[in-house]
Amino acid sequence: MGGKDHQPIQAPEEEWIQAVRKKLLDWYDRNQRDLPWRESKDPYRVWVSEIMLQQTRVDTVIPYYERFMSLFPTPGALAAAKEDDVIKAWEGLGYYSRARNLHTAVKEVVETYDGVVPDDPATVSRLKGVGPYTTGAILSIAYNRPIPAVDGNVFRVLSRWFALWDDVTRTSARRKFEELDRLLIPQDRPGDFNQALMELGALICTPVSPACADCPVQEECQAYRDGIQAELPVKTKSKPPVPVRMTFGWIRKGPQVLLQRRPSEGLLGRMWGLPTVETLPEELVPGGTLRDHWAGHGLKLELGPVVGELDHVFSHRRWLITLVQGLCLAEENLPADCAWVEEKELEHYALPNVYRKAVRMALDPPQSSHGFQQGRLF
Ligand code: ADE
Repeated sequence: MGGKDHQPIQAPEEEWIQAVRKKLLDWYDRNQRDLPWRESKDPYRVWVSEIMLQQTRVDTVIPYYERFMSLFPTPGALAAAKEDDVIKAWEGLGYYSRARNLHTAVKEVVETYDGVVPDDPATVSRLKGVGPYTTGAILSIAYNRPIPAVDGNVFRVLSRWFALWDDVTRTSARRKFEELDRLLIPQDRPGDFNQALMELGALICTPVSPACADCPVQEECQAYRDGIQAELPVKTKSKPPVPVRMTFGWIRKGPQVLLQRRPSEGLLGRMWGLPTVETLPEELVPGGTLRDHWAGHGLKLELGPVVGELDHVFSHRRWLITLVQGLCLAEENLPADCAWVEEKELEHYALPNVYRKAVRMALDPPQSSHGFQQGRLF
């Protein structure tokens, strides 16, 4: 085949490598952002930051990271915490399986490795939720091991430096880019080098309109020379999220509201939320699917008016939500995954953003939701 996207790696010249290392690290020393996880090389702190930074922007992560670290400053503190408290500290960051996996893995570190994060790649990469990127980040940043850590920023930078047309969503590209990174990492500052690549990607070598005029390694960049930096990296677009109609219930019994845990498998697994059903296409009245569902689970509901509509996009799903109010008329036995909660107690539950938005809407309904009364219904 040997198309544009199957270019073999051409090992760069030693002179080129030395120039790139020096220019990049000098630039990093002068321009790196003051980020809280850069204050120490404690492997646990590095690990938590790298998990939070997956799929989440630096600015968003900072306050969460600081709060998480004050709540759980050591592996022992996190291992001893209840899962609900860990999820509560993660509330709003999304991708909650990251928090559960981190909790599980830290417990393993405490139980099996005496609370010390292992310093060899094979052991670290077997911990739950720790993939090749996180392994490289922990080992290079905390333990000074020359191991690649290729994230989205690094894919972009390397694809441009070497004018590589590989589709970076493919596993074969990851291997190739890691191989390249391995050739470039200096033995003396591997963690700084990896972070400098990330920093260049975040501040200069951005996805759109890269600031090539300010780039410390402009001279070394093949894409810049060829004028193709805007075309790289090649990345197949992920499919747009599939839209699904959902109904949330704001179901009351006196001063209490019904919460339900999500099923353990799938989206928002085991998180607390408002009672939720996928709306049947043949639904006759808004909330009918929800009312019929609960009738089969021992709860008789009288439906009230629609409170409002919400649109929430996840990575693979888009929920088109109708929020309806309901009044519990009779209750046989409440399923174990449900709880009646006083309105003022809601803040103690870790609710993912989509449910927080719905609760906010229920407590402060839009003007258009005629007939909706706060507090007492109907
Ligand atoms: N993104 C992922 N890891 C990072 C780090 N250590 N610094 C800045 N951005 C990052």
